[in-house]
Amino acid sequence: MRCSFALTFLVAVAPTTLFAAPTPMEKRAPGSEVCDISKAVVPQAPTPLPAPTGTLAYVAIGRGTQNYTCAATPNSSEGSPKAIGAMATLYNATCTAVQAPMVLNDTPAIALKTPPTIGVPVEKESTDGPVSGHHYFNAAGSPVFETEYGWVQAKGFANSTAPATADKGKNGLGSVAWLKLLGTAGDWKEVYRVDTAGGVAPKTCANIEGTFEVEYAAVYWFYA
Ligand SMILES: *[C@@H]1O[C@H](CO)[C@@H](O)[C@H](O)[C@H]1NC(C)=O
Ligand SMILES: *[C@@H]1O[C@H](CO)[C@@H](O)[C@H](O)[C@H]1NC(C)=O
Ligand SMILES: *[C@@H]1O[C@H](CO)[C@@H](O)[C@H](O)[C@H]1NC(C)=O
Ligand SMILES: *[C@@H]1O[C@H](CO)[C@@H](O)[C@H](O)[C@H]1NC(C)=O
Repeated sequence: MRCSFALTFLVAVAPTTLFAAPTPMEKRAPGSEVCDISKAVVPQAPTPLPAPTGTLAYVAIGRGTQNYTCAATPNSSEGSPKAIGAMATLYNATCTAVQAPMVLNDTPAIALKTPPTIGVPVEKESTDGPVSGHHYFNAAGSPVFETEYGWVQAKGFANSTAPATADKGKNGLGSVAWLKLLGTAGDWKEVYRVDTAGGVAPKTCANIEGTFEVEYAAVYWFYA
């Protein structure tokens, strides 16, 4: 029940009731006015990541795949998969980060249990929730986040193993690390990946040839 509530909240209620900018004189229901972004606090990793120095600008749920390759050591228990990037659809969750942070913490694990929407044009996704952008790796191998509120190209800065209680992912191998990235171009200077669910590759390339994807979801926090 809690799961379906969270999804309904995010993909159905949020776009219609929270997204609309109220006019100054509009009367609002109690609680609808508390999307004060300055009050949202990024969740802390078990080994805390360096704290943000900038101002919170945007929070998104990412749902997609972490990509790996065993091309160099195909089907070998000697070699291990190499991370080659990721691709995800981003859903605006800024107001949820303010109004229902506990719901947001649990959302990636719930999102992982719903079908991914990668590669579907935004227009076609419009009934699927508040699609707000895309995350991918560019030709230079840098992570890029393009959203309707801004964009950033980033590079790794710090990481922390996901909590022991994190989702095990569809393959049962656990959740990718929490990260702090630094912006190298674009509108934002810091990006956090937290509340990860899934995305971990097998330890070795045994029975794996070439590139493959592991589904994941996470919450991304962007600071200007
Ligand atoms: C979407 O993100 C913007 C920028 O952070 C925010 O102002 C807006 O309230 C967000 N909408 C929702 C539904 O969270
Ligand atoms: C990652 O996999 C997705 C399919 O899930 C694909 O569309 C994308 O091009 C891949 N990106 C990289 C960097 O390998
Ligand atoms: C985490 O940081 C260590 C040390 O800087 C680095 O070797 C490792 O590749 C990083 N892992 C991830 C997942 O970013
Ligand atoms: C990997 O190698 C094993 C043993 O040589 C073989 O049985 C298996 O079919 C191979 N798997 C793939 C995906 O190539």
